[in-house]
Amino acid sequence: MDKIVIKGGNPLHGSVQISGAKNAALPVLASALLTEGTNTFQNIPDLVDIKTIKKLLISMGAEIEGEQTVKIKVDKITSHTASYDLVKTMRASILVLGPLVARAGVARVSLPGGCAIGARPVNLHLKALEDMGAHVELKNGYIEAKAKKLKGANIYFDLTTVTGTENIMMAATLAQGTTVLNNAAREPEVVNLADVLKGMGAKISGAGTDVITIEGVTSLKPTKAAIIPDRIEAGTFMIAAGMTRGEINVNGCNPNHLEALINKLRDTGMKITPIKNGLKVSAGKKINSVDVKTIPYPGFPTDLQAQMMAYMSIGNGLSVISETVFENRFMHVSELLRMGADIVIQGGNAIVRGVPRLRGAQTMATDLRASASLVLAGLAAEGTTEISRVYHIDRGYETIEKKFSALGADIKRVRQ
Ligand code: EPZ
Repeated sequence: MDKIVIKGGNPLHGSVQISGAKNAALPVLASALLTEGTNTFQNIPDLVDIKTIKKLLISMGAEIEGEQTVKIKVDKITSHTASYDLVKTMRASILVLGPLVARAGVARVSLPGGCAIGARPVNLHLKALEDMGAHVELKNGYIEAKAKKLKGANIYFDLTTVTGTENIMMAATLAQGTTVLNNAAREPEVVNLADVLKGMGAKISGAGTDVITIEGVTSLKPTKAAIIPDRIEAGTFMIAAGMTRGEINVNGCNPNHLEALINKLRDTGMKITPIKNGLKVSAGKKINSVDVKTIPYPGFPTDLQAQMMAYMSIGNGLSVISETVFENRFMHVSELLRMGADIVIQGGNAIVRGVPRLRGAQTMATDLRASASLVLAGLAAEGTTEISRVYHIDRGYETIEKKFSALGADIKRVRQ
């Protein structure tokens, strides 16, 4: 297992190019199950999770070629099973459930276990499929879903669920009649998927709002589309610039997807200005401590909570960080404490008292975004930080150490 070694203290300068969004590419690749013929998807990021979903789709009969531009064809579904050994490495595998039931009338998908950040049940996905007439059973850790033909239904999600919205939106494209998703997720990745499905001939309105209407059609045709830039990768680099007292250009990002973060970072004293194809981001004279509360889009994203906590751990005052989306997304706190941060957890809130400087330490990554927060802490800390189990980072960040060292950071990957 590799580790990342960082000598902290270098202010970041220069430009970074943002890759395609992992959480848009995953559902878009799964949507290829809905139609015969060759789909072409551009701006696919080079990530471990993308390799995993490609493996899963190939095991179901997909023919796939290409990396950044992917051609994917599923003329025939040869297997309806998403096996445990694949699903356990990536819970987003659940995204094949909706398309499989819609296209083939049957699906056998391993229940994704919990993960470091919470139990992460999929009950809302299953209830919605049942509302659409599917017969859903749980057998030996697998979801077994069957439906001769899904029927349009009026679905109400008790909680806003991103992949739940994506799964059922895909399933509804081939259902008989109209489906309405109430309390739907509004993330840009949901809108990207809806645009791809419309390119295939699906009839969808309301994507990006909390009510999405899908009128079922009898079949879809292959399409060509591009994946949106990764707003979480962009946000991670923006926060890094603030933490290291640097100034960088974040190229290829979409500022409209980052409004909650931009406002928050300006409150901390950073200067953020739109430039031709992205944002120019400069650190403030000091780091004002601010409060943060994570809520579904367009609120402050839970996927940037850990990175923001690393930033606030060197703020000039007290910051209360509330995590309302997941029940256990403070795994990074114990590692930040080992670097000298002053953080107390009270239920879903972390009380962060800023300290003048973090100190480098040996740390361990636990989940994707927690590991990103340790990289940021290491970049700003005095001394050397080592982060083990970096496979967590490779799931969601394309060559993170190369991108940071191109910005002047003293960071390298050590093969162990
Ligand atoms: C998506 O996960 C993202 N993953 C996550 O990004 C992101 O953190 C999350 O949305 C929230 O924005 C992908 O898009 C592949 P949810 P998802 O369903 O869809 C509860 C990353 O770092 N819930 O919106 O799994 C759930 O437990 C990852 O890239 C149910 O109770 O999240 C959570 O508390 C991490 N029952 C809340 O809803 C359900 O059936 C939101 O979860 C579904 C969800």
